[in-house]
Amino acid sequence: MADKKKLLRSLAGEAMDVPPVWLMRQAGRYLPEYRATRAQAGDFLSLCYNPELAAEVTLQPIRRFGFDAAILFADILLIPEALGADLWFVTGEGPRLSTITDASGMARLKTADDVHAHLNPIYETVKILAEELPKETTLIGFAGAPWTVATYMIAGRGTPDQAPAHKLREGDPATFDALMDLITAATIEYLDMQVKAGAEVVKIFDSWAGSLKGEAFDKYALAPTKRIIGELKSRHPDLPIIAFPREAGEKYVGFSKAVGADCLAIDTSVDATWAAENLQVDGCVQGNLDPKLMVTGGNALVTEAKRIRDALKGGPHIFNLGHGITPDADPENVHVLLDAIRN
Ligand code: CP3
Repeated sequence: MADKKKLLRSLAGEAMDVPPVWLMRQAGRYLPEYRATRAQAGDFLSLCYNPELAAEVTLQPIRRFGFDAAILFADILLIPEALGADLWFVTGEGPRLSTITDASGMARLKTADDVHAHLNPIYETVKILAEELPKETTLIGFAGAPWTVATYMIAGRGTPDQAPAHKLREGDPATFDALMDLITAATIEYLDMQVKAGAEVVKIFDSWAGSLKGEAFDKYALAPTKRIIGELKSRHPDLPIIAFPREAGEKYVGFSKAVGADCLAIDTSVDATWAAENLQVDGCVQGNLDPKLMVTGGNALVTEAKRIRDALKGGPHIFNLGHGITPDADPENVHVLLDAIRN
């Protein structure tokens, strides 16, 4: 397997003393070159829909740090926009969308097959990246999981407790289920096109999975992710898939097997030693350094990075953070991290 890309070796189940590394949000505001390209593009969405510039910001952290993987620069909220929702970003606050609260709102949305016209620039970005990435770097495509995307479409913004989405799923299950079905179908078509354009791995971000408990978790986090993975694997049998049901807690156990994922990404609330015993038995685990350490750095960063690497080195592991790197992170700390893991 020595000539296979390092990240793909981990996804195929190989344990390594030095794991492959990449960071969630590795292209982002903590990098001066990202801020410059973003200023050139205008706003965040214009950057997402500009294939040359989106490819450029995807490549920036690869050039600077030599990560083992690049993740397509885009956003999980492009799917709602492709389905006909209005989407804009308020500086310093985050995303805003027109809301879906009832059947009449659902009726205004497009169908899953209609998303490509809007998302074509994203597929163009993937094609550029497939050409331009170094041969040892793996290209990861992604989408949000239906529950997480639905929470934004229902509330029209990020919410601390996802209350509007919980209210709709309990109060009007027919509308809620129709929305979940539509997002699921659109996400399958979107990821399929990313793979056809050159994405070698896909990751499904369920950032708000942790607010679903018990049966609701199985129904709205596990089942839709399983449907997406099943369909993608039937179209692309060798495609490795990373699932990230963030803050799933005890529901992480058995999740990757249940949905058919090749790798389970974990947040910082679970310990790496526990993950080695309880999660790595099912295959590759990705994670889970606290992003705060990328701000504070120093010995604490080095010690914790090595602890996580060593806790998980008995099985397949992709080193990453437990959530995205933040705008106040120091780029120098990325070098410190890579030195700690690789040397
Ligand atoms: O990881 C990467 O580098 C790839 C690109 C990527 C972005 N967003 C770029 C982005 C990915 C994979 C995402 C996923 C995403 N987007 C998630 C899931 C992961 C997570 O963080 O939980 C979610 C929930 C979103 C929705 C979203 N996009 C929010 C809530 C925000 C505002 C918060 C913030 O960080 O500003 C965004 C904006 C966003 N997406 C930025 C970037 C680089 C910042 C935009 C800017 O330049 O101002």
